[in-house]
Amino acid sequence: MKILVTGGAGFIGSAVVRLAISRGQEVVNLDALTYAACLDNVASVADAPGYAFEQVDIRDRPALDRVLSDHRPDAIMHLAAESHVDRSIDGPATFIETNVMGTFNLLEAARSYWDGQGRDPAFRFHHISTDEVFGSLGPEGQFTEESPYDPRSPYSASKASSDHLVRAWHETYGLPVVLTNCSNNYGPYHFPEKLIPIVILKALAGEPIPIYGDGSNVRDWLYVEDHADALLLVLEEGAIGRSYNIGGENERSNLDLVRTLCTILDRMAPKEGSYGDQITFVADRPGHDARYAIDPTRIRDELGWRPSVTVEEGLEKTVRWYLDNRDWWQALLDRDGVGRRLGRAS
Ligand code: NAD
Ligand code: TYD
Repeated sequence: MKILVTGGAGFIGSAVVRLAISRGQEVVNLDALTYAACLDNVASVADAPGYAFEQVDIRDRPALDRVLSDHRPDAIMHLAAESHVDRSIDGPATFIETNVMGTFNLLEAARSYWDGQGRDPAFRFHHISTDEVFGSLGPEGQFTEESPYDPRSPYSASKASSDHLVRAWHETYGLPVVLTNCSNNYGPYHFPEKLIPIVILKALAGEPIPIYGDGSNVRDWLYVEDHADALLLVLEEGAIGRSYNIGGENERSNLDLVRTLCTILDRMAPKEGSYGDQITFVADRPGHDARYAIDPTRIRDELGWRPSVTVEEGLEKTVRWYLDNRDWWQALLDRDGVGRRLGRAS
């Protein structure tokens, strides 16, 4: 199968690209190379015979048409997006342009390509989304595929909009789509603006480790390679028009998670005193969602997917990776916004 992966130079997209190539699939990696992209993420597969890269912006419809007609993929996996909640608070416009208008463009380009191809029923448009579209949970319950949409940040509202567009293109035009909504990912190549890489890098730099508010907000963590595995499974075996929630049932409060990371660092990169002493409570994120938790029953029962690592194993692997790959993250430290507090609004 030849898969067009959008956003394949980002965190999750690059994990999908690496896994798909390792399983013998052909991949066209389409990415605009924004601040969040890094071609080193796919350096290990860049010379593989089935790999091609196209620097294209999903807002550029003619370029999308050209890529589809040149490469003739069997499926599209759409991961390209602006992905950081804090940046969406500081500058929501790009989120609307890329996540909403870009997805609209890609759907239209895909529809035109699929029509021209004779509407092959085996074609797939896989839209990759987030659990944040469902809003914020109280202390009980989990998000299912039937949970009502209730996005509360510019990021999650833009992703919710894109999910609605994808469903509409299926219902109205018959485009063979599948959708997935996943919980927070972590692992290698995570861009150093998200919580887990921030904690590791601030700890190693001897700087304050910032926890928003009181650290009681809960996230449900999934190792990125397990997410990539689930995505390829849904692409191949998911039912057309259906959505699947993906999560590993690993809820942690931010404070617990950060303390666990500090304990792992104390063991793997010992210093005088504990990294936990660097934990600092800072002003909260505006509109900070209290809790996310995914009910993964559907993907487990219908497709047989299960994560391969526990959160404890995944966090150890992640810390080890950051310790062993300093060149990768040091090269990103001078990118715009990295290392600075984002998303405070006024
Ligand atoms: P990321 O920010 O690491 O990567 C996004 C990639 O998209 C980058 O390589 C960037 O260059 C590219 N991109 C951005 N705008 C583009 C445009 N206009 N045209 C073409 N390429 C563009 O994001 P990520 O964390 O890898 O997330 C990937 C997808 O998964 C997103 O759709 C996100 O909403 C979704 N998701 C993320 C998480 C998470 O925890 N990170 C969880 C669930 C779902
Ligand atoms: P983040 O990695 O930005 O993911 P998301 O907002 O999409 O869940 O943040 C994860 C959690 O960590 C979230 O509750 C906000 C919090 N957080 C901090 O406490 N400190 C930080 O420096 C960052 C970036 C996030």
